[in-house]
Amino acid sequence: MKFFVDTANLDQIKEAYDLGVLDGVTTNPSLMAKEGITGRNNILKHYVDICNIVDGDVSAEVISTDFKGIVKEGEELAELHPNIVVKVPMIKDGVKALRHFSDKGIRTNCTLIFSAGQAILAAKAGATYLSPFIGRVDDINWDGMDLIDQIVEIYANYGFATEILAASIRNPLHIVKCAEMGVDVVTCPLKSILGLLNHPLTDIGLAKFLADYNKGNS
Ligand code: E4P
Repeated sequence: MKFFVDTANLDQIKEAYDLGVLDGVTTNPSLMAKEGITGRNNILKHYVDICNIVDGDVSAEVISTDFKGIVKEGEELAELHPNIVVKVPMIKDGVKALRHFSDKGIRTNCTLIFSAGQAILAAKAGATYLSPFIGRVDDINWDGMDLIDQIVEIYANYGFATEILAASIRNPLHIVKCAEMGVDVVTCPLKSILGLLNHPLTDIGLAKFLADYNKGNS
């Protein structure tokens, strides 16, 4: 299972990378805006800065919604660095662009996936990664994990090469459930990755070991 961090914050990306468990990064226009990165040139430079921190795939999202625009933008993004993966929305022209990129050997991440039908289309179009949004499905009172379960089953039925990149992860339990289902990649905020560390018995056990050591060595 690969771990990607879902942020455009360079400090958090460094922290996740230094932990030694990071395989890549995903960003989106909202995450860029949150860091105050605006304007085409600044955004492109920021992608390169991220690629210079992490030795792994970095998803960079297109803004265009028409085929020609998506292709032009995606090709420009892919030229920035060999680790760039072009993030394309699940819309009709996006599906056409996924096929175009796949035929040209440009790797893609099909984003904004909320149904199994969309997942089938993206795989058929040759997407490298597929991003189903767990948390946003949970937010409308459906079960995001049911969606993941469905996609895992369908992809296994046909041996689709597209990797499932579970996104919109809100807590460590989402990560564990994805692992149980055999999801290829999870992309999560740093706090969800760090949340995997927590167990009260670990804290209690460590405190006791240290206290006993100090008794014998004081
Ligand atoms: C990742 O590729 C997505 O853009 C991201 O996980 C969305 O997460 P959110 O629903 O917390 O905004």
